[in-house]
Amino acid sequence: MVDVAIMGYGVVGSGVAEIIVTHKESLAKRAKEEINIKYILDIREFPGNPLEEKFTKDFNVILNDDDVKVVVEVMGGLHPAYDFVRQCLERGKSVVTSNKELVAAKGAELLQLAQDKNVNFLFEASVGGGIPIIRPMSQCLAANDVVEVAGILNGTTNFILTKMIRDQMSFEDALALAQSLGYAEKDPTADIEGLDAVRKICILASLAYGKHVYPDNIHTEGISKITLDDVSYASAWGGVIKLIGSVKKLDDGRIDIFVAPMLLPQSSQLAGVDDVFNGIMVRGDSTGDVVFYGKGAGKMPTASAVVADVIDCIKHFKARKYLYWADGEEGYVLPYEDSVCAMYIRASYSDGTDIDAVAKKIFGKINMIARTSSGKNEAAFITEEMTVKKFNALADELEKSGVKIESRIRMGDL
Ligand code: HSE
Repeated sequence: MVDVAIMGYGVVGSGVAEIIVTHKESLAKRAKEEINIKYILDIREFPGNPLEEKFTKDFNVILNDDDVKVVVEVMGGLHPAYDFVRQCLERGKSVVTSNKELVAAKGAELLQLAQDKNVNFLFEASVGGGIPIIRPMSQCLAANDVVEVAGILNGTTNFILTKMIRDQMSFEDALALAQSLGYAEKDPTADIEGLDAVRKICILASLAYGKHVYPDNIHTEGISKITLDDVSYASAWGGVIKLIGSVKKLDDGRIDIFVAPMLLPQSSQLAGVDDVFNGIMVRGDSTGDVVFYGKGAGKMPTASAVVADVIDCIKHFKARKYLYWADGEEGYVLPYEDSVCAMYIRASYSDGTDIDAVAKKIFGKINMIARTSSGKNEAAFITEEMTVKKFNALADELEKSGVKIESRIRMGDL
């Protein structure tokens, strides 16, 4: 029998406990050991809970119990989760977490500590919820050089965009609906401004290329500025707008990484990933494109990934799993302004402006998008590929000529 502790009895933590209790026999067969929940750490009381006697408010009870070999951290946030996880690893306990903030901020350090202590630090649930992605990337695709990883990594924003695209719901109404359905938090900033997605793409980038990428330095745009006009122009062009986290390895060894809304053609494998679903495309040099699709959030999908990691820890007490990346380096991430892409622009202008001529004079070749319901004195067009720096300079020029840029969105070739 292996004793485990669960730190945090929120949505995911209660799901983890439920799976361990209800799947007791099948898990024991797979882990070749019975899994026993010895403690659950939470500051709240849970009177009447069938696991009531397991609850403790004292982290040291878990830390000091040498029988606890695996600790599940599902508290979320950086503090005190980081401190607790560090101490558990230092004491020789394996740790499983779903905490993307922790892995994105401290992954390299905690992986190194796990290696030094010959224990495991596993985090399958930190990206894509129940979608297997960390293990496939580190094991099944290990024979590939990863050319690019790009994905819809946030279910809440994908739900909002889907409502805007399918039902012509405004951003504000779609957000309110997402909140009423429990997808979006009361404070939805982390989802809608891309902070959740950037943590996830940083974890995938660190895994794919072996060096830690810190979210603080990464260009991050959310979807709060996307309007129904943009959705309509995207559709007239033959595409959809999706919030994408993307990382690409460059020939000089640096990486081009960002989170931003992207206008994708309907033919893209990610264009049809709708509602709260996530889709992650890994482009390998040998495999070509491999796409992972499924529920990227939610109690039971996420708990399922956590418990699978617990089983993996138990099966690898003696032969540690090899999951590792080194710390990041200065200059490793391409400055966003050097990133190259084509851009969609929606602009408004005053009476008498020949927008076609003005835009062509400044941007050179452009592709005007015609839609039946265009507003008066409004146009949208797509530029050729150029660096973001050059685009910004030309966009400034366009604005100086009296044209107002209402939206600018990256074009995606995924
Ligand atoms: N809030 C996230 C999402 C789930 O909407 O995808 C957890 O990462």
